[in-house]
Amino acid sequence: MTKVLFVCLGNICRSPMAEYVFKDIVKKKGLEHEFFIASAATSSEEIGNPVHHGTRNKLRQYGISTDGKRAILLTSKDYQNYDYIIGMEQANIQNMNRILGQDIQNKIYRLLDFTKSPRDIADPWYTGNFDLTYNDVQEGCEALLEYIITNDLKKKIF
Ligand code: 4NP
Repeated sequence: MTKVLFVCLGNICRSPMAEYVFKDIVKKKGLEHEFFIASAATSSEEIGNPVHHGTRNKLRQYGISTDGKRAILLTSKDYQNYDYIIGMEQANIQNMNRILGQDIQNKIYRLLDFTKSPRDIADPWYTGNFDLTYNDVQEGCEALLEYIITNDLKKKIF
């Protein structure tokens, strides 16, 4: 079982989008039993709130539901509980390092660093552009799965 936690500031826009897009990709590849996938916030601002309507509406276009998801806070215990802890932007990584402590097991990554053009995920909180965020998230999640299959799963199941 590979455990993946996506992280952003509020856990209502970007990281839940990554959580549900990644779950969808993994399911379509028949790999859902190999993964535990979740998302969390570095800020307590939105804790307990449902996914932002911009993310919900965008994912609905692809038949993906986020029903039941509520924003939760990243805690120091998550460092031991997850294999991949993935921020959406560089500012998230700094907050994750503060909450999780030193990344001695190299578990902390920025999502688009798995792609050929490393960059931050576009932040829809400021732009209102959830299409751009979705494209970034989709590109990052495909690249992440490729990385995990190559580095972890091939050793276990292929
Ligand atoms: P997220 O978006 O980090 O992608 O969930 C945001 C949510 C809330 C705030 C900023 C970004 N905020 O400033 O409250």
